[in-house]
This record gives sequence, structure tokens and C-alpha cells, in this order.
Amino acid sequence: MKYEVAYISRSGNTEKLAHGIADCLPSEDTFVTDLAVDEITDKADIYLIGFGLKNNTIPLKIMDVLEKLEDKIIIFFATAPVIPTEEHTKEVERRLEPFMPDECDYRGLFLCPGQVSEESFNKIRTVLEQNPGNEQAEMVYNIYNSINGHPDENDIADACRFVRKKLEIIQA
Ligand SMILES: Cc1cc2nc3c(=O)[nH]c(=O)nc-3n(C[C@H](O)[C@H](O)[C@H](O)COP(=O)(O)O)c2cc1C
Repeated sequence: MKYEVAYISRSGNTEKLAHGIADCLPSEDTFVTDLAVDEITDKADIYLIGFGLKNNTIPLKIMDVLEKLEDKIIIFFATAPVIPTEEHTKEVERRLEPFMPDECDYRGLFLCPGQVSEESFNKIRTVLEQNPGNEQAEMVYNIYNSINGHPDENDIADACRFVRKKLEIIQA
């Protein structure tokens, strides 16, 4: 089996996860594609497709890529400024559904916290300083704070476990 890990990443969160996932797959049969630079090949059997979510929106590039994945095995991995829940994962899958090829073997989505840029962090910090006690700003600040540094090594290990399980790869 050949694996292609293809991702689109603006600030590097999904890129980090993509390389972590690629590193836990058989190296001789795995290649990585940065969709900002290259198109996917048609050479793999299994496609691991990664993207960063902005306000729960699926990047257009991912919709394009899905058109080319007829008859392939597909796993998604995504990063977002959230502490992921099952409902959130289902919501993202619901948004992907209309773009899925008619014939494919879909295995699941791994959703992972992705830190926000320093600029976004500073912006919310300023809002909070100017509006102390603002519950909405406090909530967003607390989330941003708790996902700072993600994806981290534990996220990558979780992603690898998820991928192995979905592909039924037995670890040596
Ligand atoms: C410049 C910038 C702006 C962002 N704006 C938003 C936003 O408006 N809404 C949101 O939900 N996430 C926003 N995010 C968060 C990211 O989409 C999210 O954390 C994701 O992990 C980024 O993944 P990527 O670096 O692989 O693209 C922003 C991130 C960056 C770097």
C-alpha cells in the first residue's frame, strides 16, 4: 500500500501534524505533499488529507482535492482553535460530506487543537484588558491559552494511533 499525506497549512499547525503522521507510516511507501506548492499524485492507495479550519470552514483546495480521490481510502486530519469534541468532529465531517467522492473508502477525521497566531492572541488579550469581566472575551482567551503550543508531541502520538487504528496497521 502507498500512502500520501497531503496538507494545506497557513501558519504551520497542520503541517506539523502532517509530518508527524508521515513519520509513523512506512517511510518507503509514504510521501508528503504540501498542497500550497504541489498537486496530489494519483499514485497512492491511501490519502491522509490535512487542513486548518478557520471558523469551521473547509479550505477550497480540499474540495478540489477530493474530486480526485475516487476509489481511494481517505482519512482527514484537521487543526482548529478549539478543544475538540465529538460533536465538533461530526460537524466538520458534515461539512465535508457534499464534497466526498461517490466511491471511496472513508475512514474518519482526526480533529486536533491548533494554536492561534501571536497576533490573534494579542488581539484577544487587548480586548480583555479593555473590557475586564467580558465573558465572551474571557472564554476565547481561555481557549486560546489552553491550546497554545498545539499540536504538540502528544497530539502527534494521538494522531498516529488514530491513523494506525483506522488503517488496521499493527505496530511492530
Ligand atoms: C493569521 C491567522 C488567522 C486566523 N484566524 C482565525 C479565525 O478567524 N477563526 C478561526 O476559527 N481560526 C483562526 N485561526 C486559527 C487557525 O485557523 C487554526 O488555529 C488552525 O490550526 C491553523 O492551521 P494551519 O496553521 O495549519 O493553517 C487563524 C490562524 C492564523 C494563523
